[in-house]
Amino acid sequence: MSRAPLAHLNGALVPLAEARVSVLDRGFLFGDGVYEMVPAYGGRPFRLEAHLDRLGRSLAAVGIPNPHDPGRWRAIVEEVVAANGGGDLAVYLQVTRGAAPARDHAPPTDLRPTVLVMASPLRPRAAEVMEAGVSAVRLEDIRWARCDIKAVTLLANVLARREAARRGAAEAILVRDGEVTEGAASNVFAVLGGVLVTPPKGPRLLPGITRDVVLELAAAEGIPAREAPVAADDLDRAEEIWLTSSTRELVPVTRLDGVPVGDGRPGPLWRRLDAAYQALKARHRAGA
Ligand SMILES: Cc1ncc(COP(=O)(O)O)c(C=O)c1O
Repeated sequence: MSRAPLAHLNGALVPLAEARVSVLDRGFLFGDGVYEMVPAYGGRPFRLEAHLDRLGRSLAAVGIPNPHDPGRWRAIVEEVVAANGGGDLAVYLQVTRGAAPARDHAPPTDLRPTVLVMASPLRPRAAEVMEAGVSAVRLEDIRWARCDIKAVTLLANVLARREAARRGAAEAILVRDGEVTEGAASNVFAVLGGVLVTPPKGPRLLPGITRDVVLELAAAEGIPAREAPVAADDLDRAEEIWLTSSTRELVPVTRLDGVPVGDGRPGPLWRRLDAAYQALKARHRAGA
């Protein structure tokens, strides 16, 4: 993507650097909006239908009318991918409730949602992350009670990531009432007694698309997996811990709160499932 990036804003393709919205946009004033992040491999959006389904659920949950049907969304995403040179991209979709005449918590009912779709290069994962894994820290989950909605209102996630970085870690693993919910921008998996476990879907965490793919691949590989609560203390005896997200894929956590996880190296189940994930991506890239 060497040319200047282009973005789709409310129906028009514009240079990203010139894309503008009103300061009265409720996304700006209240964080009143939702978003998606879709990876594209070889210019082909991956699991787009699942992302558009989740976008639809987020919009419905906050009462913003979905501005487009799935076919129109797909056309916009494909247009933005092509306009940015194809290849491997992270495509960001955002819908806010729109710009109101004045700042007021109660939204008018007749607003036109603001739609932004932009893309940035999806860089290959760093070799050192694959070889050595990353550090994570456990932090209290101070977010709201509807973390299943992919809202742009991410201040608590930002603060968690900021605190993790301050402690030299790549991610914060969030804990509510003694149970792991998810990462600041990822879902969490642990290997406990040879079984892959991830917290169940519900209002406390985002139903990650990568999480679903990992569970599908685990089933196909015959790896025992469960969606069940994970106590924060369980992580102290985990053989492996991973983070999953659309942009970072499957990331092994090899240090938690400064202590090695397992033998301190990326584990064998991570290797197997990461290889399966890479193979799936390669098939997708090739058009399968
Ligand atoms: C809070 C949170 N949980 C989980 C995820 C992973 O979701 P997905 O696999 O759909 O990218 C993300 C992605 O950014 C996230 O922000």
